[in-house]
Amino acid sequence: MMSALVFTYLMYSWIALALIMFPVMLFIPAPYGRHTSRNWGPVMVNRLGWMMMESLSLIAFVIFFILSPEEKSLPLWIMFGLWVAHYVNRSIIFPLRIRTSGKVIPVLIVALGIIFNAINGWSNGWYLGSGLGNYQLSWLSDPRFISGLIIFLLGAWINISSDNILLRLRTKTETGYKIPHGKMFKYISCPNHFGETLQWCGFAVLCWNLPALAFAIWTAANLLPRAIAHHKWYRETFPDFPKDRKAFLPFLL
Ligand SMILES: NC(=O)c1ccc[n+]([C@@H]2O[C@H](COP(=O)([O-])OP(=O)(O)OC[C@H]3O[C@@H](n4cnc5c(N)ncnc54)[C@H](OP(=O)(O)O)[C@@H]3O)[C@@H](O)[C@H]2O)c1
Repeated sequence: MMSALVFTYLMYSWIALALIMFPVMLFIPAPYGRHTSRNWGPVMVNRLGWMMMESLSLIAFVIFFILSPEEKSLPLWIMFGLWVAHYVNRSIIFPLRIRTSGKVIPVLIVALGIIFNAINGWSNGWYLGSGLGNYQLSWLSDPRFISGLIIFLLGAWINISSDNILLRLRTKTETGYKIPHGKMFKYISCPNHFGETLQWCGFAVLCWNLPALAFAIWTAANLLPRAIAHHKWYRETFPDFPKDRKAFLPFLL
């Protein structure tokens, strides 16, 4: 079994990589969705690509959590339930709902997504399953657990309800873009990305461990640049795009 020290160093390196990638992604938007380009090599069917990428987070997390022989406390099962619920949606339900007929995604993005999700699923599942966190029943009344859970649930609600608005903008056969309205779209262009970032920050607080922190940092490093790129694209594409709408943080950014 991997030692706790080796695992800690791996997680610090993983966080350092996220901090290096953040400025890169500010300048080079990840080439999928509206930023897809044919310059990134071979492509594959978008829906299948999403399922392949995201299911690794579910599979790796569940395997490493369940295979560990340690006894699992109730706080651990709650963390397990939050991760699994999110990734059942993200890897199965969400890809089945997207209106993406005829759209493609670069194979390179899918391959990088598989590696990214496998590392996050493994690190979080392994740490929680291994007993290193020593979460007793009393963790349920710790202010970090309670506040983190509230932040996670709020973020999940913002993420899902915003994704729902986006997915309803198209009919089954449409593939173009419209200006989204309603709920947090009144204030920001990408509440789905804001909600997801909030969600994993909440998870980091409720778990209070290094792999959950690393995943929250990676999520922000991915989604803040993507929201800024989307916002710029909306402004350039729609002359009537609401002028006072921000990109990612209401009233601020
Ligand atoms: N944890 C992480 O690091 C991470 C990383 C990436 C994504 N995610 C999550 O995965 C989900 C999808 O991410 P994403 O970056 O693909 O989100 P997105 O660019 O906002 O797109 C979401 C879906 O809505 C469609 N859509 C977006 N804006 C639209 C508009 N104005 N008009 C019509 N349709 C529109 C997109 O179609 P097109 O595909 O055709 O553009 C796509 O099917 C989000 O909830 C995000 O938070 C998480």
